[in-house]
Amino acid sequence: MHQAEFINLYEKANKKSYRELYSEGDPTKWGNVKYKGIITNQYAGQDLIHDFFVKPIMKRFAKKTDLVISDFGGGDGTLLFMLQNQISKNFNLYLESIDLNKKFVSPFGPTQELQGLIKFIYKDILWTHKPSYADVICNRYVLQYFNKENQKKVIDNIHHSLKEEGLALLVWPCSIKSPKIYNKIFAEIVSLIVEQDSNEVMQHKYFASLNEIKSYMNNTGFTKIKKIGNEAQALLSVKSWGDRFDFSAESYQGIEELYEIYSKKHPELFTELGGELCLKTDIVGLSGERK
Ligand SMILES: C[S@@+](CC[C@H](N)C(=O)[O-])C[C@H]1O[C@@H](n2cnc3c(N)ncnc32)[C@H](O)[C@@H]1O
Repeated sequence: MHQAEFINLYEKANKKSYRELYSEGDPTKWGNVKYKGIITNQYAGQDLIHDFFVKPIMKRFAKKTDLVISDFGGGDGTLLFMLQNQISKNFNLYLESIDLNKKFVSPFGPTQELQGLIKFIYKDILWTHKPSYADVICNRYVLQYFNKENQKKVIDNIHHSLKEEGLALLVWPCSIKSPKIYNKIFAEIVSLIVEQDSNEVMQHKYFASLNEIKSYMNNTGFTKIKKIGNEAQALLSVKSWGDRFDFSAESYQGIEELYEIYSKKHPELFTELGGELCLKTDIVGLSGERK
């Protein structure tokens, strides 16, 4: 399905427009990702969903007909909605999305139509959920909201909720080449925004490297840990921060100054998109199976 078609369907089901799905190439919007040389949307990019989620699920469960898929930190259900679109021909699906943000739970969030497809559960993924019930657990763009200790806990909880040989699909942002400085720049940007916006941005804690998450998965008892997807980079311009979060002109200027300083000191972390200077964020993913 073409992305525009998907967004249309999604918005109909959700009865609201979702502006974060519209970045696709517009450098002033939040959510641009460069994937396989093309600028797409970090939430709705079809190729991205296919390579990081659909492909590993199809490969692992080629012979199965029923699948329980749970999305830990699933937000408003975009990923599951999209997944079911791509794989519902192949499986009978039970889909659930777990999130601690009340706005994604009835009566504030999803429509009846969306709830007919996905069960929305209001819960903190730091608490253990049901044991051994899911064939697949997805966790996309969520790990960065936790510190190292809690990232281990979330991974442990995912392991606990998977059936034997169930599949975990973890996708998160980080910087492959300059992890320390990336964490520092991000923290400085967040500190400029924090007091003026919702709690959400405050929760960004730590962007873990591939090796760190791999080792947490190993220690938790995952096997067959593999990299999923191809190289992907989110591109964050100063204007895109302004598009996503509400903050003062003063903070905006502060972010501009940060970009100017750090792009000179660490040019490897920056690139240009449509004339806008962007901070580069690698999007990486790992799959693993419960023993
Ligand atoms: C950037 S959004 C990603 C949403 C979704 N995974 C996707 O890829 O479309 C991060 C989500 O993680 C959720 N989240 C953060 N901390 C959480 C926690 N402790 N328990 C459950 N959900 C959490 C937020 O509420 C938000 O919906």
